[in-house]
Amino acid sequence: MARSASVHVCSACGHEEPRWHGRCPACGEWNTLVEEVRERAGRASLAASAARKPVTLAHAHAHAPHAPRLATGIGELDRVLGGGVVPGSVVLIGGAPGIGKSTLMNMALGNLAASGRRTLYVSAEESTAQVHLRAARLAGGALDVPAIAETDLEAVLATLERERPEVCVIDSVQTLDARELSGAPGSVGQVREVASRIVTTAKRERIAVLLVGHVTKDGALAGPRVLEHLVDCVLAFEGERERTYRTVRAIKNRFGSTNEVGVFEMRQDGLVEVLDASARFVGAATRAPGSVVLASMEGTRPLLVEVQALVTPSELVPPRRVVNGFDRNRLALVLAVLARHGGIPVGGADVFVNVVGGVRIDEPGADLAVALAVASAQRNVPLGDPARGLPLAAFGELGLTGELRWVGHPERRIAEARKFGLETIVAPPGSEGDEVATLREALALALPRQQRAPQLAA
Ligand code: TYD
Ligand code: MG
Repeated sequence: MARSASVHVCSACGHEEPRWHGRCPACGEWNTLVEEVRERAGRASLAASAARKPVTLAHAHAHAPHAPRLATGIGELDRVLGGGVVPGSVVLIGGAPGIGKSTLMNMALGNLAASGRRTLYVSAEESTAQVHLRAARLAGGALDVPAIAETDLEAVLATLERERPEVCVIDSVQTLDARELSGAPGSVGQVREVASRIVTTAKRERIAVLLVGHVTKDGALAGPRVLEHLVDCVLAFEGERERTYRTVRAIKNRFGSTNEVGVFEMRQDGLVEVLDASARFVGAATRAPGSVVLASMEGTRPLLVEVQALVTPSELVPPRRVVNGFDRNRLALVLAVLARHGGIPVGGADVFVNVVGGVRIDEPGADLAVALAVASAQRNVPLGDPARGLPLAAFGELGLTGELRWVGHPERRIAEARKFGLETIVAPPGSEGDEVATLREALALALPRQQRAPQLAA
């Protein structure tokens, strides 16, 4: 026996209350509580007849479906997914508007259709004519994908059941409308209901669903993380609309690692995979004062990116700290360590730090490169071997006492830097590069001798 009950869910923070309140007790927003109907299992379902017989995990593989993964033909996307889409799985792809989610999904379905898979594109945002216009710009089988434009959840689920595609894109979870719930499409209650109904249908009919979701200003998938536990895999599509490079990374993946990152470039004819991102970034590195090549790891893949810094006298109190592609608080830490342990104070200066190409670096291994870029900018001297046009490479985490700390996969970072002809690779102990134990030693190695002493550099 199932009995339905209703709860009231805050559409701003996801907080639940049994009764309606004018103001959410959790986040304090007004008029955000929305009623949501829940099925509640009755006592009867707890009867002994419902008990299951457990199997040891060693024997559980016999129960696992062995269907091969569906390759989207987009290498970078397949790698992030762990080798393609798992049949019957639900993948949530989040990203800011205009980043290229629909483009990527259309390309993936096009390739799947071209390889003989049954596909379906459900657009709840655009008319099929608009979807057609995009598909016409894309190469591959993008135009061969069957599409519907529909915002009603029931109609979409009924279509899925009748068409039974192997892979389906639903664009987007926020614009589908579950009519039995009050609340506008996109509210937390609606989004959760839409996603869970889609997940149920996907599992039952064994349809792999790529579910598109918009992220809010602060980067959370709307509503606040309510969908992450429902789906098998969450991908974040990041980058800035004005920039060329986009990255796709897995935040959650039941069928693979969450370390992989795919790099794309938005072009006239769609998103193009950037297979050798390092070559691009090193080739474009300026080799001017303030430029350092960071040997970073994006998942299991080493990636060389250029970090640039600019230090200028400030008129402002406090001075500006502008940072792109790197954590602002991390920059504050690096600047503090640089002042205290490196003898390079920038307290009275504006500091700008930029990871070139719109890439966002999320690992502590970036500290040293940022510190060296700021030092180079402050001293106005190029690093590396300017005569031969070779930039300096660096990686390593900075400790608060000025020590340099080991970070993962030093050998792969160094191999990647060597591959592109970089000779000086400033690295923490245990890394087999040009090892240094402290920030002070790193500065001594990187900055030309006459530029090192602060009193000479005025
Ligand atoms: P879109 O996939 O619609 O973004 P989203 O679904 O994430 O909102 O596309 C975003 C932008 O990409 C759009 O403004 C136009 C641009 N674009 C290209 O530059 N080249 C292309 O081939 C396509 C299809 C889009
Ligand atoms: Mg779109």
